[in-house]
This record gives sequence, structure tokens and C-alpha cells, in this order.
Amino acid sequence: MLTPEQIKSNWDKFLNTIDTHISGERGDKLKQFYLKHEERFVMMPASHKSQYHNCFPGGYIDHVNRVVEAALKIDEVWRSFGMVDTYTTEELIFSAINHDLGKFGDEQNASYIEQTDQWRRDKLNETYMFNDRLEYMTVPDRGLYLLMSNGIEYTKNEFLAIRTHDGLYEEANKAYLMGFTPETKPRTSIMFVIHQADLMAARIEFEKEWLPKLLGPKQEQSKESKTNNFKLNKNNSAVKQKALKTMINPALADIMKNI
Ligand SMILES: [Fe+2]
Repeated sequence: MLTPEQIKSNWDKFLNTIDTHISGERGDKLKQFYLKHEERFVMMPASHKSQYHNCFPGGYIDHVNRVVEAALKIDEVWRSFGMVDTYTTEELIFSAINHDLGKFGDEQNASYIEQTDQWRRDKLNETYMFNDRLEYMTVPDRGLYLLMSNGIEYTKNEFLAIRTHDGLYEEANKAYLMGFTPETKPRTSIMFVIHQADLMAARIEFEKEWLPKLLGPKQEQSKESKTNNFKLNKNNSAVKQKALKTMINPALADIMKNI
């Protein structure tokens, strides 16, 4: 869960990313679109089931900001391994900002609304449910449609990155991602960078929320006691003196004395 301050600061960060990285009239249009639906975007969860990631107020923007940050870092890794330059930083950030936009719903109906079934709230811990006023569309298709219908243009690279951001978790992406000949393989790696950024962000969100619950108090306790043991040993001067005597390098021993 996020505090109101965290939700506010995430929203400011999100708008600042648009200001900084999406240029010209397109940047203005994109910002206007998000501001027009500010209340919905600020409070949106990233998913409608607590078992999924960031299912709490403000979870959507928190996730998107993480994907933007992750995309920039993963881009650096790919470039350091010799990735050919086939896309711009603006394309990368535009794709990260809008990769999950389809979760918004449409102009009238939010995708995720409050769960009305008390039994499901109590027993299944479901705060939200999917709004069945919305006709079926995949998240990438709805996101691309929203951009297009609001006059926000996107490049082919951005289309491909948003369309395939779920990677091979989505059966329909096989046609784009599993080309077995050079001619049919993707001609840009932006699709892989965005997918990896999204995968990592969602995984980190799962770990933060669920691992403490799944590991249970025993595991947590043993982790804590290990930390305490370390602190104890670190401060135990007898142990420290003994360790220092065994060090051959006097300069290193001198440094260790002061730790
Ligand atoms: Fe995502």
C-alpha cells in the first residue's frame, strides 16, 4: 500500500517524465490526456486481483514509473553488450509510459471498479473487480486505441513495443517474437527491452508484497537473527582482534581496525 504522499509524489514524477522526454505537440497532447483523467489515473491499481501485482490505490502509476526507470537501465545493459541502435530514448520512454494504458478502460468506464460482492471481498480479499460494461479488448490493443482516438501519434517501434510488452506470456505475440529466419525476426530490440523492464518491475512488486508473507515469521526471524549475529560479531572486539592478527597485509589490517 502507498501513503497519500507517495501517491502524490509518484504522479508528479510521472508528469515530469512526460515533460522531460516526450517532445513537442505530442508531449503536450499526451500530458493533456493524462491530466483530463487525472483522478482515475492517480488512484488506479495496476491490477484487479490482490494476487496480481500492485493491486492497491496508486498501484498503476507506481508500476509505470518503475517500468520507465527499469527500461532506461536495461537499455544501458543492452547497449553495453553491443545492441544495434534502432530506437530513440523518446520511443523507449513513450512505450514504457503507455505500455499498460489499456488497463485504464475507456473514457466512460474504468476497467477496475470496487468489488460489490461482499463474500468475495471478505473471503477472497478482492477489493476490485473487472468492469463488465467494457467490451473485450486486450490491454495492448485498448491502449493503442486510446492513444489513436486521442490524436496521440506513435511510431512503428512504439506500436511494436506496446503491442508485445507481455513477451511470450501472450500466445498472440509468438508471430512477432518467434521468427526463425533472419527476415522474420524483429528488427528492433525495443520490444525485448520493454518486456524485460515490465517483467522485472512486476516481479519486484510481487517480491515486496508477497515474499514476507510467504516466507513466514520463522524465515523472517532467522533472517533477522543472522543480521544480529553479524552486528554482534562486527562489534565484538575480541573476535576482531583475533581476525586482525591473522592478516598478512599490514595496510589492510590498519583499514580494518577502523571499521
Ligand atoms: Fe506492466
